[in-house]
Amino acid sequence: MTQTLNFAHRGANTFAPENTMAAFKKAAQLGVDGLEFDVQLSKDDVPVIIHDEKLDRTTSGQGLVKDFTLVDLQALDAGSWFAPEFSGAEIPTLDQVLDEFRDSDLQFNIELKSGIILYPGLEEAVLKSVSERKLEERALISSFNHYSLVACHELNPAVRTGILYVAGLYEPWNYAKALGCYSVHPLFYHLQYPEIVMGFKEHNLLVYAWTVNEIEYMKLMVAGGIEAIITDRPQDLKKVLTGGI
Ligand code: G3P
Ligand code: MG
Repeated sequence: MTQTLNFAHRGANTFAPENTMAAFKKAAQLGVDGLEFDVQLSKDDVPVIIHDEKLDRTTSGQGLVKDFTLVDLQALDAGSWFAPEFSGAEIPTLDQVLDEFRDSDLQFNIELKSGIILYPGLEEAVLKSVSERKLEERALISSFNHYSLVACHELNPAVRTGILYVAGLYEPWNYAKALGCYSVHPLFYHLQYPEIVMGFKEHNLLVYAWTVNEIEYMKLMVAGGIEAIITDRPQDLKKVLTGGI
């Protein structure tokens, strides 16, 4: 059994503002295996890293990401809401994040936020960024919008995909397989039935559980042989994995 991978959810978001380069660099310093981050599309069709469709919660701007060009998005302050020392932090582009960590061993869980706004062209743009850098083997695309995943799989089957879901789906392996998925990304509460984890193993689907923040649940998931945990507290998961707690 290989060790559970430690993925930093939106970067090391308890140390630095989520989905900023500072949060990703901190996660890398902590020694995580991968970064999870969220992608939306700017008005001029550039994939940018931000969780919400709206700018209001995590930047100095207001309104929808899709209504702003990249230049205007990167003029916003994406750090002050978190702490004054992060004032001036930018919304990064996907290209900037991939370039920053291209020479590392980090894996990238790229979540397409195409669930509310469909963002025509998002799948092509993201796959282009990945393949231009020859990062196919280190990228894993997830989404709550499974049409986006099918589109990605058809555009470039070399890039792995995984279904995100929040419901307690019954025997979801056949569905995931039909979509050509490599992994499943359930809300972690849905892994409490041992037969669910067994079913995924039998069907060669890797399990990326989110968002596991409590040490007790981290230990259960690790003991259950889950392939990856996406967490807001990669610093704690690191200790769990090394036997420190
Ligand atoms: O990929 C796991 C998790 O990030 C999904 O939910 O809303 O935090 O993007 P959310
Ligand atoms: Mg996400």
